[in-house]
Amino acid sequence: MKFEFRNPTHLVFGAGSLSRLGEMVGAHGKKALLVTGGGSVRRNGTFDRAVSSLKASGIAVAECSGVEPNPRLSTVQRGAEIARREGCDVVVALGGGSVMDASKVMAAALFYEGDLWEMFPHGQASRRLPERALPIVTVPTLAATGSEMNGGAVITDEKSTVKSFVTARCLYPQTAIVDPELTANVPQDQTAYGICDLITHVTESYFNGVDGTPLQDRFAEGVILTAMEWGPKAVADGLDIEARAQVQWASVVALNGWVQIGTLSPYPVHMIEHSLSAHHDIAHGAGLAVVGPAWMRFAAKTRPERFAQFSERLFGLPLQRPEDAEAAAQGIDRFEAFLRSIGCPTRLSEVGIGGALLERYAKDTLLVARGADGRLPGRPAMSEKDIVEVLHSAL
Ligand code: NZQ
Ligand code: ZN
Repeated sequence: MKFEFRNPTHLVFGAGSLSRLGEMVGAHGKKALLVTGGGSVRRNGTFDRAVSSLKASGIAVAECSGVEPNPRLSTVQRGAEIARREGCDVVVALGGGSVMDASKVMAAALFYEGDLWEMFPHGQASRRLPERALPIVTVPTLAATGSEMNGGAVITDEKSTVKSFVTARCLYPQTAIVDPELTANVPQDQTAYGICDLITHVTESYFNGVDGTPLQDRFAEGVILTAMEWGPKAVADGLDIEARAQVQWASVVALNGWVQIGTLSPYPVHMIEHSLSAHHDIAHGAGLAVVGPAWMRFAAKTRPERFAQFSERLFGLPLQRPEDAEAAAQGIDRFEAFLRSIGCPTRLSEVGIGGALLERYAKDTLLVARGADGRLPGRPAMSEKDIVEVLHSAL
């Protein structure tokens, strides 16, 4: 193992921490671009509480509302325009992963010369990463992406229907205020999709990382076991703040870089899913629940010992030998059954997707994430045909 690690985000975690928003934002600016989604924060009172806290600390507010799930490039441009016009010096993201991702790119857009899409890989010869951004403060209202404490953002270019990602040092939020009470009103389906998303963040590195990272394996298993224990409670009773808190903490840790340290892992399941949500606007976590088990069955053929370990450690299945393919298959079945038990779809047809565009999804996946050998990085690396095969098996 050889690595460097840096996560500069100041994390404030716990029920009631929204009240510290003004104090935290005040350390970075005097006029905030307050970015929100389609209206949930207005309906449940979170918006008013956030504005009160900001105003109490003497911070002026300009609003950018209406960030849609699977946020679009034009929405980012609209928000950046508001920030520029209003002279904002800090960006506050109040919402789910979509709001947070859009906010990060809005914050960088003010300093980025030229076409914003150039910072996202989409088959171009070279790309320019953003180097500067306004300070960003994230306040997640949904436990899922981990965007609150990482330097990544996922945006869709609606003209080409391509969804791509950027990670850059300047996109790390200065502060993340993670208040599980804000997730109390998340509907059951979105709660379940968030649980699938956070688990998939750690299964990606668990299955695709380099060999010889036993501590990272244990971190990943801890996140998954915690999500499988507390997730169903949060789905069953959204007002169970203890369950909400455990799920949200797991979602933060799952993608703040800690679990992935040293694994050098790519994210093949994510890359395939992004091409589905780009075309069909489905919830990211629902798409992962469909692609994930199908991909696992494909990957287990080349790496049965890894999946056997997953089965043994997560589901207590006994192994006849380290590469026990039967136990590996049973563990994947158990995982899929868990996803179904909390209300996730696991077939493409359940999210309204048929077989007509499978080649297109595979091509788009490779457009965004093509390795030097022309394949999708992962264990195993996947050709276009392999991606189609996995998607076909999920029909
Ligand atoms: O828009 P509003 O009205 O707020 O409603 C949202 C939206 O309809 C609703 N919601 C959020 N908080 C709520 C609530 N409803 C009731 N009460 C609340 N407290 O939930 C719906 C989905 O929101 P969204 O932000 O789209 O969900 P999520 O957090 O799952 O974010 C998904 C996006 O993040 C990207 C995904 O690709 C997708 O675009 N990702 C970002 C990552 C990152 N930056 O690190 C990593 C992830 O793997 C992922 O790819
Ligand atoms: Zn994800």
